[in-house]
Amino acid sequence: ATKAVILVGGPSRGTRFRPLSLDLPKPLFDVAGHPIIWHCLDAVARVKQIQEVYIIGYYDESVFRDFIKDSAREFPGINLRYLREYEALGTAGGLYHFRDAILKGRPERLFVLNADVCCSFPLEEMLKLFMERDAEAVILGTRVSNEAASNFGCIVSDSHTRRVLHYVEKPESHISNLINCGVYLFSADAIFPSIRSAIKRRTDRPRLVSYPSSDNLDHFRMPRAVADDDDDEDKKEVIRLEQDILGDMADSKQFYVYETKDFWRQIKTAGSAVPANALYLQKAWQTGSEELAPASANIVPPVFIHPTADVHPTAKLGPNVSIGPRVVVGAGARVKESIVLEDSEIKHDACVLYSIIGWGSRVGAWARVEGSPTPAGSHSTSIIKNGVKVQSISILGKDCGVGDEVRVQNCVCLPYKELKRDVTNEVIM
Ligand code: GDD
Ligand code: GTP
Repeated sequence: ATKAVILVGGPSRGTRFRPLSLDLPKPLFDVAGHPIIWHCLDAVARVKQIQEVYIIGYYDESVFRDFIKDSAREFPGINLRYLREYEALGTAGGLYHFRDAILKGRPERLFVLNADVCCSFPLEEMLKLFMERDAEAVILGTRVSNEAASNFGCIVSDSHTRRVLHYVEKPESHISNLINCGVYLFSADAIFPSIRSAIKRRTDRPRLVSYPSSDNLDHFRMPRAVADDDDDEDKKEVIRLEQDILGDMADSKQFYVYETKDFWRQIKTAGSAVPANALYLQKAWQTGSEELAPASANIVPPVFIHPTADVHPTAKLGPNVSIGPRVVVGAGARVKESIVLEDSEIKHDACVLYSIIGWGSRVGAWARVEGSPTPAGSHSTSIIKNGVKVQSISILGKDCGVGDEVRVQNCVCLPYKELKRDVTNEVIM
């Protein structure tokens, strides 16, 4: 049998997803009409060998309760459970902590998915490569620009055999533009012993963390420290797949890379939900999903409209628009490349482009809320405008108001703000 784990992190993560994560844990944020984590689960549920799926994270127990309940109905073939870490244990620490639960029923293989990636999840293809090569691990890889590569885990592989020769997490200098997509398939016999050895190496080694200026040997292979929320690195328990396991696997295991040519994006910043929404909608459209609104004079596909939303027939929507539950869109409004969240209202003749409209927000008549397109294939959601770095996507947090005829351009607006004058390139707090 094969099982799957979806890594969701916890409340101390997802800080770059603010202001949207102030009101909802990032994995539950809706893109293309479904929570981010639903897209992972949907992919996993299509693999017929998989019956057991675990969400591992350190959010409160209650966070995923409703999602799990709804999923049981939607994916009857899948038994989904949430396993809560008492604190952040790292991407491999959580797996190891729950090894007894995971290994119950003696699964041979384990998929591990980062919840915060958007891709077509070619799991069958990974499984096929795994079998063909009699692999112990397969990682999903994709090519990005040389400049973008160092923000990710980088893979050096044998182009012929696809064997992983070298893996470095977020390297200082360029080693490869084939990067880690955050989707893995491990043999159960390889992954748990590998984590055990990593833990052993760690406890055997003299700890140098309290002497940051000392000549730390780790620097030979340590990646650049991650700038944001990563002070948990020093905690004893934290074991990370990327830093502590994958490099070693490249040296000692049958470790292969499956390179996807399909779309792939990370969902880190709040703005990155907009390209993710577009990519998932396009995928749904290509596969003939019945959830999407049919094309018409005023619907440019792909567009998702929740059945409870009220969209005036003269409003023009799309492409790449998701309209949430109970949203009201007035006459003559124009919405394009945007996510409009539940209970919000877009009044008549307003225009919303490259934006996210937060829960319960109101956009006044003839108002404009706009961002800018992110260049195709870009892995960043900031752009340079008049020499200044700004958010490409405009975001209104929960319960914001934009006055009639007010123009909001490339702004991020925290919850409960009323915008009564035009604003450009600002964070409104
Ligand atoms: N359960 C649990 N416990 N999950 C965690 C923890 C933890 O302590 N820490 C992180 N995660 C989850 C996050 O929610 C996310 O889904 C995933 O693990 C990876 O998150 P990060 O550790 O923040 O890494 P990253 O996103 O900067 O980089 C990773 O993903 C890239 C692809 O998106 C690395 O795997 C890179 O190599 C990779 O390129
Ligand atoms: P189409 O491609 O046919 O939709 O028209 P277009 O070429 O004008 O492009 P698009 O619809 O993407 O809209 C471009 C700009 O026109 C937007 O930034 C809006 O300012 C404006 N616009 C277009 N249609 C409407 C509308 O029905 N209502 C409002 N308020 N603005 C609109």
